[in-house]
Amino acid sequence: MVDDLLPERLRERVTGSWGRSLTVHESTASTMDDAAAAAAEGANDGHVVLADEQTGGRGAHGRHWLSPPGSDLYFSVVTRPAIEPTATALVTLATGLGVRDAVAALLPGRSVLVKWPNDIWIEGRKCAGILVESRTVGTRVESMIIGVGLNVNRTQWPPELAGAATSLRAERDGDEPFDRAETLATLLSHMERWVNLLVKDGPSVVVDALRPNLALVGEQVRWEDGEGLFDGIDQDGAARVRTETGVVSLHSARIEPLEH
Ligand code: BTN
Repeated sequence: MVDDLLPERLRERVTGSWGRSLTVHESTASTMDDAAAAAAEGANDGHVVLADEQTGGRGAHGRHWLSPPGSDLYFSVVTRPAIEPTATALVTLATGLGVRDAVAALLPGRSVLVKWPNDIWIEGRKCAGILVESRTVGTRVESMIIGVGLNVNRTQWPPELAGAATSLRAERDGDEPFDRAETLATLLSHMERWVNLLVKDGPSVVVDALRPNLALVGEQVRWEDGEGLFDGIDQDGAARVRTETGVVSLHSARIEPLEH
């Protein structure tokens, strides 16, 4: 195993309850599948599966998540939140807020925003993505797997991502790599805090905190079925877009700036 991701190094740095139990793979297909299997076998809330490399990393909307070894963080957290199955989208937003706060803490002075619903942007470039998959039994959420891919030390991109992707290291003054164990611990503590607040206090605390940290508000955007002015999010976390024919609420979509 690469030294910086040794399980004991990771456990020493974890400050909350998420990550106290963890499994680290040198290479795996997708930590989403590993965490789902661990959940089915009874893993506790907060159990983390991390990999140095993924050969079949998954992104939202069936996309691939490029996951080369040695540079970044790919992990999934088993959670068992006491929420309705319909709240998956809010868990994505709460996680996004946590990842945003962690990245902002690691890069003081940089503008770090959530690009609704599941991307983290540093000054317009994506550094992280979130994928939440849940297993429900009847009307009960049995487990939710929260997956995060964060570009930590990568500085080279395939042509299709050049200009659109970035990493913590690429955005830092100087060229010092980040310690992935420290970075993971910072992420987990912020993510755990926001997901717990969502469960305890409900959506409005997350939605209110997210509003000033959203990218593209007041800008022209397009999504799969139309285009308009992005007007932020409503109390349920849905995106509001002003179109020529009225305001549209998007519960699940991928918005992009119109000029891209
Ligand atoms: C997206 O932006 O489309 C979401 C990307 C989520 C990627 C992470 S990496 C760890 C976990 N395992 C996966 O296969 N996907 C998520």
